[in-house]
Amino acid sequence: GRVAVLMGGVSEERPISLRSGEAVTAALQRQGIDATACDVRTLDDLIKVADSYDLAFIALHGRWGEDGTVQGILDTLGMPYTGSGLAASALAMDKLRSKLAWRGAGLPTPAFDVITPQAPLDLTQYMLGFPVMVKPAREGSSIGISRADTPEMLHEAVEIALKYDDEVLLEQWIDGTEYTAGIVGERVLPLIRLETPRQFYDYTAKYEAGDTQYHCPCGLNAVQEAEIAELCLEAFHTLGAQDWGRVDVMVDGEGKPWLIELNTVPGMTDHSLVPMAAKAAGMDFDTLVRTILEVSLT
Ligand code: DAL
Ligand code: MG
Repeated sequence: GRVAVLMGGVSEERPISLRSGEAVTAALQRQGIDATACDVRTLDDLIKVADSYDLAFIALHGRWGEDGTVQGILDTLGMPYTGSGLAASALAMDKLRSKLAWRGAGLPTPAFDVITPQAPLDLTQYMLGFPVMVKPAREGSSIGISRADTPEMLHEAVEIALKYDDEVLLEQWIDGTEYTAGIVGERVLPLIRLETPRQFYDYTAKYEAGDTQYHCPCGLNAVQEAEIAELCLEAFHTLGAQDWGRVDVMVDGEGKPWLIELNTVPGMTDHSLVPMAAKAAGMDFDTLVRTILEVSLT
């Protein structure tokens, strides 16, 4: 059938999505699959796509694309698509409610609090200590996220995050190392350990700086890696995700993993993490893209 690769969108992550979408389209075309890159920005664009194609490969990041809205429209139009459905997409996009679900399932995630315009920051009630991570509840690529080391910085960080969302997540800082687990079908790819000279793996470290180091194999022993992989798969299932995704975790000084977030449409540029992990597992980029398509069709 004819595959529409949905990319672009209207979120803050639009530039990343265009890169993911172009890479995915090229990979499909190299394998003889009839694929077209479709920059979608409106409902009309989606309706046109549904009229002309058999299947959508969703390469949209962030809101309106990764958050269940586009999935709901495609459901309504009767157009099959790759990846998680409406509910799991919406839940995973929302870092606050992802954490509530994980906590409810007994899975480890750092302590947290929420700030809204109606319930502003009150330092007399503040329990999370410093440093603390401050995040818009629903954003991607670390946009709007800062680390606050002092009460003054916390106020400033909350102001920044509130520009992106009216719910702001305050999350206890885990002093440790960031790992990420790509998932394709029911398979967890080899973990990647991220090492950045910056305070955390922020937007610049992700896409701009040349100083981020990616370690795969990640350096954990096999037992520990398998345990974390198992936790990530459980986190994926707890949110009801399917087909593919990527779970980010922090591992503290004692070796204990803490769930940070699930990305249901992780970056697919040729420098992205899931392609990197797939390669370490012997799966080249083209095979990865075809596998995502195949697991989504079954
Ligand atoms: N949100 C970006 C694209 C990622 O998770 O890779
Ligand atoms: Mg994310």
